[in-house]
Amino acid sequence: MPSVYIKTYGCQMNERDSEAVAAQLVAKGYTLASSEAVADVVLLNTCSVRDAAEQKAIGKMQNLAAEIRRNRPEVVLGFMGCMAQSRGQQLIDQLPDVDLVIGTQKFHRTADYLDDIFAGTRTKVVDVDEEQGSEAAIREHILNGNTAGKSVTAFVSIMQGCNQYCTFCIVPYTRGEERSRAIPDIVAECRELVGRGVKEITLLGQIVTSFGKRDIPVKDGRSGFVQLLEAVHEIDGLERIRFTSPHPKGYGDDLVEAYARLPKLVESAHIPVQSGSDRLLKAMHRGYTRERYLGIIEKLRRVNPGMGITTDIIVGFPGETEMDFEETLSLAREVEFDNAYIFKYSPRRDTPAADLPGQLPQEVKEERNARLLELVNEIGAHHYEKYVGRQTQILVEGPSKRNSIRMMGRTRSNKIVVFDGSERHRGQLMDVKISRAGSFTLYGDPAIINLE
Ligand code: 5AD
Repeated sequence: MPSVYIKTYGCQMNERDSEAVAAQLVAKGYTLASSEAVADVVLLNTCSVRDAAEQKAIGKMQNLAAEIRRNRPEVVLGFMGCMAQSRGQQLIDQLPDVDLVIGTQKFHRTADYLDDIFAGTRTKVVDVDEEQGSEAAIREHILNGNTAGKSVTAFVSIMQGCNQYCTFCIVPYTRGEERSRAIPDIVAECRELVGRGVKEITLLGQIVTSFGKRDIPVKDGRSGFVQLLEAVHEIDGLERIRFTSPHPKGYGDDLVEAYARLPKLVESAHIPVQSGSDRLLKAMHRGYTRERYLGIIEKLRRVNPGMGITTDIIVGFPGETEMDFEETLSLAREVEFDNAYIFKYSPRRDTPAADLPGQLPQEVKEERNARLLELVNEIGAHHYEKYVGRQTQILVEGPSKRNSIRMMGRTRSNKIVVFDGSERHRGQLMDVKISRAGSFTLYGDPAIINLE
């Protein structure tokens, strides 16, 4: 059977989709190649959120065509995911070496399409149609990833699509309308993962807080999403629950209160704010004000002062004035984010903001990016420093990515801790004493590790 190599660009949802495609192909007898150089099939799972991400994947495909196709003409090359969805046939017109273009609702058809290509019944396949029920097709897992050991953490896709239509964002066009899976189906998948040794589950979707909005009635004041958290929380052997990405409008009292009520729901939240200026929040169609956002953070910290809070921020949105940007700086100072991912505004085709007046020059975006980054790093360092000398619980995930003779785990607040451990610690919840803080990394003192 052929071997396949999947390279993933973009977010955790894309990582998860790639894993599900890999699992699907392995089930059909494919092997996973260790690199593109030796693979019979190379698939690029793409991101469209910014132009740079698209250009990277296109450049990579040109490179594969020139380097790999030339020596091994039988190699199959394909695009999947968000850019495949939004560009479709265009990609083959532009890059004739591409054999396969699979949209975001067709991941589960990958094996069939490869079969067709290998059997010679089709030479090119483009499928970017919508498919009812496709949100439930991202289900299979490969739990040993690229490392030798077993996975301690897993991602579970709970919904697809987004109806928010933020004016800067391409996601509603690449991922489609919001569609949620059924709670029992998600719980069964989580239960199976826990049975295979998983201790921590991250529930994934483009806007997870809108989970079940259309089909699950609010019960005792609890949204469909909170009902899902409760159901997953029941699973014996599961230690931790996370989710990403939520929308601030989803932080009703039911969700805030869930942090107090559900001990497995860890004190960590990635809540994209995008801007600190009410004028821009409105132009972005975000659906909240600065004050409302600050109110949510305050409520969460009241429930748990140790809540780790991260965010996404866009700089250089059309019409952003120096004053708007300063409001973003002051919001970052006020919230004291543990970390923030900063994005320079990138006009996306067919989105309203791309046609707004006041598009800003690259230099302004760069300059604001640098100023905000400096502030975010300074505040982040302060948060990490606070851990030094303290004892904290980590879940050990495996070898450290940067230094594989060390092990790494994560605090409940989602901070990476590197320590001198061994394979036998994998999957354990343990207390470490933090001896040092580096750049967005903590170091645990191996002498004071207490096994639970
Ligand atoms: N330009 C820059 N950043 C963007 N994001 C989404 N669309 C754009 C865009 N057009 C950012 C947002 C989002 C994150 C995943 O990507 O901050 O939260």
